[in-house]
Amino acid sequence: MAQLWGGRFTKETDKLVYNFNASILFDKKFYRQDIEGSMAHVCMLAKQGILTKEEMQAIVKTLGEIQQEVEEGSLAITEEYEDIHSFVEANLIERLGDTGKKLHTGRSRNDQVALDMKLYTRLEVLYTDVLVKDLLKVLLRIMEEHTETIMPGFTHLQKAQPITLAHHMGAYFEMFKRDRLRLRDIYTRMNYCPLGSGALAGTTYPLDREYTAELLGFYGPTLNSMDSVADRDYLIEFLSAMSTIMMHLSRFCEEVIIWNSNEYGFVEMDDAYSTGSSIMPQKKNPDIAELVRGKTGRVYGALVSLLTTMKGIPLAYNKDMQEDKELTFDAIDTVKGCLALFTGMLSTMKFHKDAMRRSANNGFTNATDAADYLVKKGVPFRDAHSIVGRLVLSCIEKNIAIDDMPLQELKAISPVFEEDVYEAVSMETCVNKRLTIGGPGKVAMEQVIALEKEYLAEEWQDEEAKKWKK
Ligand code: ARG
Repeated sequence: MAQLWGGRFTKETDKLVYNFNASILFDKKFYRQDIEGSMAHVCMLAKQGILTKEEMQAIVKTLGEIQQEVEEGSLAITEEYEDIHSFVEANLIERLGDTGKKLHTGRSRNDQVALDMKLYTRLEVLYTDVLVKDLLKVLLRIMEEHTETIMPGFTHLQKAQPITLAHHMGAYFEMFKRDRLRLRDIYTRMNYCPLGSGALAGTTYPLDREYTAELLGFYGPTLNSMDSVADRDYLIEFLSAMSTIMMHLSRFCEEVIIWNSNEYGFVEMDDAYSTGSSIMPQKKNPDIAELVRGKTGRVYGALVSLLTTMKGIPLAYNKDMQEDKELTFDAIDTVKGCLALFTGMLSTMKFHKDAMRRSANNGFTNATDAADYLVKKGVPFRDAHSIVGRLVLSCIEKNIAIDDMPLQELKAISPVFEEDVYEAVSMETCVNKRLTIGGPGKVAMEQVIALEKEYLAEEWQDEEAKKWKK
């Protein structure tokens, strides 16, 4: 059991206590960020004359070797160390002796862990963004291909008005676009460096915090050392944004599951994204969509858990905050996995245009347009609504669509109906007359698609990432 703080203690830590306290099993995940932070720290210490140039060079070189050995698998991160910070420092000291012991000058594990977690999360914000963008590209492709694919739009899961598949996909495009904006927003708010805040009250060494921040690609240093070591807002914001992504994915999954059912038959999942039943040979189940829907709860759980952990913590650092890691890591892995799988599933899914069209035709989705037709001929809307209500009732009795009702019978319900009604209530007219921006009409959809294309061509993250990627 290698501990950094044994000096004040006369007894060994109880084994159970040691295990309960230790974080190495999960914080080893950010060994790279820990080393990156330490390198920047010693560079700054040398610049300030706190370490010599030779000491700095030896430490940086040896830290690089440690990283390489971990990556190659020749140096194992084992449970004998309390946490990743102890692992790196102990290995450094083993190799460099007294010089290695100087690494932790002017630093505490409190600002160190705040930095490591921030560096790790910052990268994950960008990775998540890339995956959301991949999904948007697939959505845009489907939108471009299906501006004329008519399907029913629903309210209360009842057929409401005809729309197109492009329009339906476009709704999800907007949701995931907002998710990206949230990620970007979080990035710009979190990108300040806590290193140099010490345990809570800064240090007496003449550190150059601007310099460390710059080396690590931050916009600048954080401005209050107590807040620096006690702040996990950025994790809460990230978990919240990821929960929203999952909520969107889950709604989408729910629809895809319904569309994939025998009753709807709007879509068919590719074999590669479906599973069979051990007993029922005919089955092809949408398990991936169900799992994504199911995993949403787990990401919400992480958000609620961290909010609850943080709510009673007095300033500044408290060990409760170690609980931020496992659940955040799990949420990140879950969301990234779900995004990648969902995108694959969507991009290989077959859309059955005929079934969609049939469903739109058979659900009186043009009833509003039939009423509007009468209004244009001078009937007050409330009366038109009632006339079409009677018309629908009569169609239901005859088991036909509005379009199939002979003109004579239409006229019997209201003499205002004329031959041109059939054109007015055709699915194409219903969709394509809806031309205001944001509507399903082909022309309106094409305008939006052009805007989204421009949006996808922008690369905010290149600009951000350039600042710190080596
Ligand atoms: N493993 C700790 C954490 O994750 C690192 C900081 C430890 N600091 C301390 N004073 N015990 O929060």
